[in-house]
Formats: sequence, structure tokens, C-alpha cells
Amino acid sequence: MTSEQRILLVGCGNMGAALLRGWLGQGTAASRICVIDTEPAARAVADELGVAALPTLQSDVAADVIVFAVKPQQLDATLADYRSLAGGDTAVLSIAAGKTIGDFEAVLGHNTAIMRAMPNTPAAIGRGISAVVANAAASAAQRDCAEALLHAVGDVVWLSDERLMDVVTAVSGSGPAYVFLLIEALIAAGERQGLEPALARELAQATVAGAGAYAAESPLDPAELRKQVTSPGGTTQAALAVLMAKGGIEELIDGAVAAATARSRELAG
Ligand SMILES: NC(=O)c1ccc[n+]([C@@H]2O[C@H](COP(=O)([O-])OP(=O)(O)OC[C@H]3O[C@@H](n4cnc5c(N)ncnc54)[C@H](OP(=O)(O)O)[C@@H]3O)[C@@H](O)[C@H]2O)c1
Repeated sequence: MTSEQRILLVGCGNMGAALLRGWLGQGTAASRICVIDTEPAARAVADELGVAALPTLQSDVAADVIVFAVKPQQLDATLADYRSLAGGDTAVLSIAAGKTIGDFEAVLGHNTAIMRAMPNTPAAIGRGISAVVANAAASAAQRDCAEALLHAVGDVVWLSDERLMDVVTAVSGSGPAYVFLLIEALIAAGERQGLEPALARELAQATVAGAGAYAAESPLDPAELRKQVTSPGGTTQAALAVLMAKGGIEELIDGAVAAATARSRELAG
């Protein structure tokens, strides 16, 4: 992203606001950004950050990149309004789940650079990961721009095949919910074994955060790290005998990711 680029952010809800904070935090001038959001409370968020916010697209608004961060069902009613900006040098970056590059090309034309991304909620603290895929019209510079915009809220990986977006959605898009469920279950189990709720929560949260950071930083495979904490006949082994039994966590996660992948395919039509 060059310091001259003008960004139009359509939708400043949970994910849009996380992106906006990320861009400003990385030093993008507020004057380079314009927010469009129909919801007054979302525009107030932009106002507080010193970014101009409008309820609808005005004819004098220009952009080098339009970032769509509205709900997928809201996009259908919105996209045609942006046709006037498409087709030239303006690129589109969408984070709307299930909306394909083809959906955008059908309205904005095949000559428009379209990039489709799937971020996840740790983006709110700059620790997300986004997978992104581009159409043939996107130039290297436009891809770099999209990558820089997403990088403001975490890591970025490129996909060569858009069809992988369904399983990406199932693994990293929905994945934070699986981890939150693991934290919930650890808290509840700790309480059942006698811990005070606040202490159970502190232990469970710190354990998941620490183990995640350790797995990310260590050169070792997660399986190797697991073996390192598992002494023969010890406490961890007693727990893993339950978790790794038939019908245990591996089969459950496998079924969960398969169900989410299938649902993502269904939603994309
Ligand atoms: N949250 C996640 O974990 C996550 C992860 C990956 C991808 N995504 C994708 O990110 C997108 C946004 O999700 P979100 O959770 O941030 O949603 P959100 O909080 O509902 O934000 C969307 C915002 O856009 C506004 N809006 C609706 N129609 C509009 C229009 N025509 N023009 C301008 N603004 C409009 C909404 O206003 P109203 O409230 O008035 O409708 C709302 O303020 C979704 O497509 C989702 O698939 C989210």
C-alpha cells in the first residue's frame, strides 16, 4: 500500500472497525480513508478515529481500493451502487463470507480487480490470520495493496484456488469459536474438580494463549510438543487417553471441520 492510496471501507462493524484501527495503527493517514456505513453507531466509531464517514456512497467519492466488510446478505443490495467505481484502476477487497469472486465480477465486471479474503476474529487485537485469493484482473501492485491492508490485523496467506476458501473458512475463519469452546470446557471441568470460577478461567485462558504462542514460535511440530509434556504413566497421559480415544477430539474436530466446509459450500451456492 502506498501512502497515497485512497481506501473506501464499506461496513464499519466488528471486522471493518478492526481493519480501520489496524490501518490507522500502522500509520495510514485518516484523510486517505472514507467509511460508508448505514448504521449511525458504526459511523460514530469512524468519527471518533478521525475518519470521514457517510451513510451512502456519494458521487464525489473516489478510491484506489474498496474494502467490503458488510454481511454477505447485505452485500447483494449494496454492490450495484459501487459499479460506477469499478472497471478502472480501483481494486476490490471483500471479506464477506461465502461471496465469491464470480459474484463480484457478475456485478462489477471481469475487468475489475477482485480480491476475496477470509480473516478471523483475533484481527480485533492484530493477531488474526487472513487467507486471500485474487482474480486475473488484479495486478501485482493491487495484490500487494490487499496484502498490506490485511496485514494490519495479522498474518496473511495467499490461496491459488478459490475453492479452498470453504475449508479455510472451516479451519481459521470459524476456528476461534472452537478454541473458545475449548476454553469454556476447560473452565467448567476445572470448576467441577474444585477450582474457583475466576481461577479456573485464568488458568484455562492463559494455558490456551501460552500453548498457542509456544506452538507458533517453536520449530517443533505440535505433535512433538504434545509428546514432550506427556510423561509415561503421568497426568497428561491419563487425560490424552480420554481425548484421543475413538470418538475423541480428533474425530470430533474432523467432523466439525467437514460440517463447516460443507456449510460454507452450501452458503456460497
Ligand atoms: N466477524 C468475523 O469473525 C468475520 C470473519 C471473517 C469474515 N467476516 C465477514 O466480515 C463481514 C462483516 O462482518 P461483521 O461481523 O463485521 O458484521 P457487522 O458487525 O454487522 O458489520 C457490518 C456493518 O455494515 C453495515 N452495513 C449494512 N449494509 C450496509 C450498506 N449497504 N452500506 C454500508 N454499510 C452497511 C452494518 O450496518 P447495520 O448494523 O445497520 O446492518 C454494520 O454496521 C461479513 O461479511 C463476514 O462474513 C467476519
